[in-house]
Amino acid sequence: MNDMALTPNVPQYWEILYEEGRDDWDLGETTPALLEFFEHSSCPKTGNVFVPAAGRGWDADAWAKRGHNVVAVDFCSSAFDALEKLSDSNSNLTALNTDMFLLNMYDGKARMKQFDIIYDYFSFNSVHPGRRDECVEMWLRMLKNDGLLIGFFCPLGDEKYGETPPYSISKDELEVRFKGIFEIKEKIVPKKSIKDRTGRDRAGREEIWLLRKIL
Ligand SMILES: C[S@@+](CC[C@H](N)C(=O)[O-])C[C@H]1O[C@@H](n2cnc3c(N)ncnc32)[C@H](O)[C@@H]1O
Repeated sequence: MNDMALTPNVPQYWEILYEEGRDDWDLGETTPALLEFFEHSSCPKTGNVFVPAAGRGWDADAWAKRGHNVVAVDFCSSAFDALEKLSDSNSNLTALNTDMFLLNMYDGKARMKQFDIIYDYFSFNSVHPGRRDECVEMWLRMLKNDGLLIGFFCPLGDEKYGETPPYSISKDELEVRFKGIFEIKEKIVPKKSIKDRTGRDRAGREEIWLLRKIL
């Protein structure tokens, strides 16, 4: 298949990256910055968690092992198979193989009720910039009133969007997109930002934003 003809909007695009080992965002373990965040005083101790675009599910599994009920979604079979294996051995973790943009709490799927927490790591930054509003709308559908969005945003920057994900985003753009929809409660700079497998450093380009749904 000619992957140049595909966009990140379709699972086949991601399938090729996973199959060819070009999944350089995948660390093969829980994101160290998430483990650091678990120790932070602002990290919620309870609440069910929705993880969109969960990939192989390392982070979703970590939330579930911390005691939260977690629903994690990925539409790419390679990622989903690994995520499903983790969910087989963790009763707190439910894996869904579907397009996150199609989800809403009225679609009759098991456990599709609104969540206390959304954990977004490399999901918003993977969505094509033209679909960012849709992503915010999906968060609103999935989150309870007053619910908490925990966004690990990376790479932060003002440079023009690259041609491939993860697409950079400026802090100004994030603030504009969230205005009147989410209240920005806190911004945390993780100490444990790491290099990805291609050696690109995330330090200084990654922040954890805690956003309270107010709409
Ligand atoms: C850059 S990866 C990040 C995966 C994971 N968050 C992590 O850090 O390992 C992006 C993931 O989003 C998934 N994805 C992209 N668009 C999606 C959509 N509309 N619905 C569900 N999954 C999607 C891809 O299949 C891929 O696994």
